Amino acid sequence: MDDLKAKYLGLISDAADEAALEDIRVTAVGKKGEISLKMRELGKMTPEERQVAGPALNALKDEVNSAIAAKKAGLADEALNERLKTEWLDVTLPGRGRPAGTIHPISQVSQEVQALFADLGFSVAEGPQIEDDWHNFDALNIPSHHPARGEMDTFYMHRDEGDNRPPHVLRTHTSPVQIRSLLANGAPIRVICPGRVYRADYDQTHTPMFHQVEGLAIDKDISMANLKWVLEEFVKAFFEVDDVELRFRASHFPFTEPSAEVDIRCSWDNGQLKVGEGDDWLEILGSGMVHPKVLEAGGVDPSQWQGFAFGVGIDRIAMLKYGIPDLRAFFDSDLRWLRNYGFTALDQPDLASGLSR
Ligand code: PHE
Repeated sequence: MDDLKAKYLGLISDAADEAALEDIRVTAVGKKGEISLKMRELGKMTPEERQVAGPALNALKDEVNSAIAAKKAGLADEALNERLKTEWLDVTLPGRGRPAGTIHPISQVSQEVQALFADLGFSVAEGPQIEDDWHNFDALNIPSHHPARGEMDTFYMHRDEGDNRPPHVLRTHTSPVQIRSLLANGAPIRVICPGRVYRADYDQTHTPMFHQVEGLAIDKDISMANLKWVLEEFVKAFFEVDDVELRFRASHFPFTEPSAEVDIRCSWDNGQLKVGEGDDWLEILGSGMVHPKVLEAGGVDPSQWQGFAFGVGIDRIAMLKYGIPDLRAFFDSDLRWLRNYGFTALDQPDLASGLSR
């Protein structure tokens, strides 16, 4: 018995791989293995002999089996260690340089506008780009026969014949978010709504998709004076100039009464725009006191509440601030243009450290 044990434990410890181990298992404890055959001989023994040989043979079989299992695990560890020696990575190597992406001027300007209106207590609201014609027109006091519907060169969504759902449009302005915000939150309210808008128009200063930011402030006693102050603060902070002169020109929008378009004093020198000086005026936004019918459509009582709204073209003020001559280049995805006009991703605009470092 001791010879058998020494022989097999020796073979097991010398086995080079799993196949060799399996051979040893078969010759020792397999069906016709040496130890198994010995166990069969137990029947021919006297009961006294059997009492000694039986437990000893069983113990030997167990020992061989567990030695095989242990060796198997050892071989697997060795194999893994071998593999790890070849598959290594030096994590202390310096990173490979790759061209960093930049923030698109539209995103940059949206963030700048959000940062500075946050400072004035405005939160950000959003609405869908595919809008139903009630939110885009009717609720804003633009009934179906109104010429403004035609003027806006609206994109209508396709409707199958017999489809009776309300017509949907690609929103032509961010003003429908006024209605959605009023319906969702009521008054008082102070929000800005930046986002994409769509009109069927295409030339150097128009693209079928562009960006606006809507402003809305409703409370008990908000007047045109508040509108004027807020817009002056906005323009000064946005263009990063100390003094700025705004001109409010009487205008007409169905959803505001009275309405004003706002121009900013500026100079053009060799195509270089300077804000706050010179003899030129440049239109930058539409605004006015929110029409009572709009408040009503938003579920707000116009005998209790009043306030102002405005809509600024983000692409337009981005062109002005950063001297970008052609609007269409914004959407060409030309990497050279993006590298030139883009902004570092880590520079988050805020009022304290400068909007456009
Ligand atoms: N929605 C108007 C436009 O797209 C802008 C505007 C917004 C005017 C809010 C007045 C008040 O031209």
